[in-house]
Amino acid sequence: MIKIVSFKELGLSNTKKMFKVAQERKFAVPGYNINNLEQLQAIILGCGESESPVIIQISQGAREYANQTMLRYLAQGGVEMAKEQGFKIPITLHLDHGSSFELCKSCIDNGFSSVMYDGSHLDYEENIKVTKKVVEYASDKDVSVEAELGVLAGIEEYVKSDVHKFTDPDQVEDFVKRTGCNSLAIAIGTSHGAYKFKVEKEEDIPELRFDILQEVKKRLGDFPIVLHGSSSVLKEYVEIINKNGGQLERAFGIPETQLRKATQYGVSKINIDTDGRLVVTAIVRKILAEKPKEFDPRKYLGPARDELKKMIIRKNKEVLGSAGQAKFII
Ligand code: G3H
Ligand code: 13P
Ligand code: ZN
Repeated sequence: MIKIVSFKELGLSNTKKMFKVAQERKFAVPGYNINNLEQLQAIILGCGESESPVIIQISQGAREYANQTMLRYLAQGGVEMAKEQGFKIPITLHLDHGSSFELCKSCIDNGFSSVMYDGSHLDYEENIKVTKKVVEYASDKDVSVEAELGVLAGIEEYVKSDVHKFTDPDQVEDFVKRTGCNSLAIAIGTSHGAYKFKVEKEEDIPELRFDILQEVKKRLGDFPIVLHGSSSVLKEYVEIINKNGGQLERAFGIPETQLRKATQYGVSKINIDTDGRLVVTAIVRKILAEKPKEFDPRKYLGPARDELKKMIIRKNKEVLGSAGQAKFII
């Protein structure tokens, strides 16, 4: 018999109060993805020092890479480390892009405090059916459920899409009402990965569809909206990578000014994975190129972790507005 663990035993929080406060105070809670120890340390330290609530996201790929049990304990370790450091921040453990009811159930039973069921690739009625089933299972245990309507372009291991289908504002009320989900990810022009736009220059990056966001907000009022694919693909790190043997050409993300605008329009959660990956790769490449004799992983992963922490603090302060907000939630 597998022991069922509630997130409450692990000291984790669901997203309900976080999003309520985020709506009232007009900021976005960061959803940062992890696959390993150093990323988790950087997130806990970065969010702890900037007093930001945080959603730690685990994708299906991350579960396979790091082992699902290991990741659960890692997250639990993160909560304990935050306490030991004296940080008073709410921490959510979230399944990112769950592709089936069974996977969501397994995460809920294993201490996750939030899950995303991503049925965006399904037809509308099927998306509603499975999302609703996840919500029914989760709500019993007070676990939050994020759903998605509309399709983001971009490549991930488990959610692959060549098309971009903006969210139809005419569907959102019906979808939220019938599924009972706690937050909704919408497609307004963001996409996953480091190549979000097929443009030659930064100046040619198009604006997000703020008109759709505003229409959705009109229909849903204070309901929490999520933006996936919201890395900015920070130029300084792309340059370090390319200077040190990397080949990332025409990699462009969502300008931070647009993300700030999205928080003002009432987006409550912003997902960032690629920017963290770029920081780690940039620092590791630089150190290994400058010190070819180095072979102690702590000597390159440690500085990568420190730089990631710095990036997180800056994002929380300057982009998401989540810095200093933890005290209004706890
Ligand atoms: O949106 C999801 C994340 O970027 C996870 O990507 O499937 O490569 O772990 P992954
Ligand atoms: P990025 O690839 O833009 O970082 O998006 C991450 C994401 O949406 C995770 O769910
Ligand atoms: Zn995503």
